Amino acid sequence: MYDDNDGLWVTFWDAVEGQTIVLDGTLSSDPEGTALTYLWASSILEFSDDTSSMPEVIIPAGVSNNFIDDEGNFRKENLFPEKIVANVFCEPSTRTKSSFAIAAGNLGCSVVDFNIDNSSVQKGESIFETVDALNLMGVDLCVLRHPKSVIRELAESLPKMVFINAGEGAISHPTQALLDIKTIIDHKNSLDGLKIVIVGDLDHSRVTSSFVEGISNFDVDSLIFSGHPEMCSKYQNPEIGKYEPDFEKALQDADVVMTLRIQYERFEKDLDLDLETYKNSYQLSTSKLGCAKADAIIMHPGPVNYVEITEAVYDSENSVIRQQIANGVAIRMAVLSRFLSS
Ligand code: CP
Repeated sequence: MYDDNDGLWVTFWDAVEGQTIVLDGTLSSDPEGTALTYLWASSILEFSDDTSSMPEVIIPAGVSNNFIDDEGNFRKENLFPEKIVANVFCEPSTRTKSSFAIAAGNLGCSVVDFNIDNSSVQKGESIFETVDALNLMGVDLCVLRHPKSVIRELAESLPKMVFINAGEGAISHPTQALLDIKTIIDHKNSLDGLKIVIVGDLDHSRVTSSFVEGISNFDVDSLIFSGHPEMCSKYQNPEIGKYEPDFEKALQDADVVMTLRIQYERFEKDLDLDLETYKNSYQLSTSKLGCAKADAIIMHPGPVNYVEITEAVYDSENSVIRQQIANGVAIRMAVLSRFLSS
């Protein structure tokens, strides 16, 4: 099942788990339903359910737990001391950028923290010349966040460099989807049979689009999109799930509620919105949370600004937002080690 290129990956997991992992091309958990759930993707550039291209990339969401020790700390394994990872973020980031840097450091990599604001991009250099320069200097893997779809072209023109999509405009954010899915599995064991509600500015949400692609691999009970109609135009008649503008109706018996901020920076014209009216309808408050199941989990990819969720809900027992952020490191260690192994 494995070729030599997978050696380190297998060796590492064998060392940690004392078990051989068999990735056989099927999307499944093990027969006992206890161990591993594999997520297939044709590329970490974006999710795909095109299984014909397997096994280009295999992201085992469950296996990322093995990067966390019994005390809950991230393992520090000097697995890739010769590898150089560049964090190239052309849009602001706290969680994704920091978690990739920490993950790469935990794996023994050198990390170039590329600061676009102090770079030659400010002197008119394009992202292509910039990344090519990093490539010539010996960077092995580029973690890229960019407002436009440049990553595929970059990957094609620089075949020796590995690219990981760390957020592509409003289009995709696959590693966020992986950590969201891991967080749900951590709390609910599986996504199968769950009612999942996503609320907020869905039209600008790369988190939503990648999450929807990721969960299409599972047998969720229902997926409900909710939010202001002007922020959910792409989700009025979705391929999967349904749109429910009444947030309290949407929340009825929900197992998972994912809340998203309004991305003011991506609106093409000024948003004529009365914030108090918006909050009355779409802010997840303790009283609205009462419509969901008592053990519903509350998620938020960040950044949080307490428009879409109250501080009380953020701090409630239902909130898994802080664990979601921490899971970013384990998932990104799994993703990086998979790519750096091959
Ligand atoms: N969730 C997320 O992408 O957060 P950052 O913008 O802080 O990276």
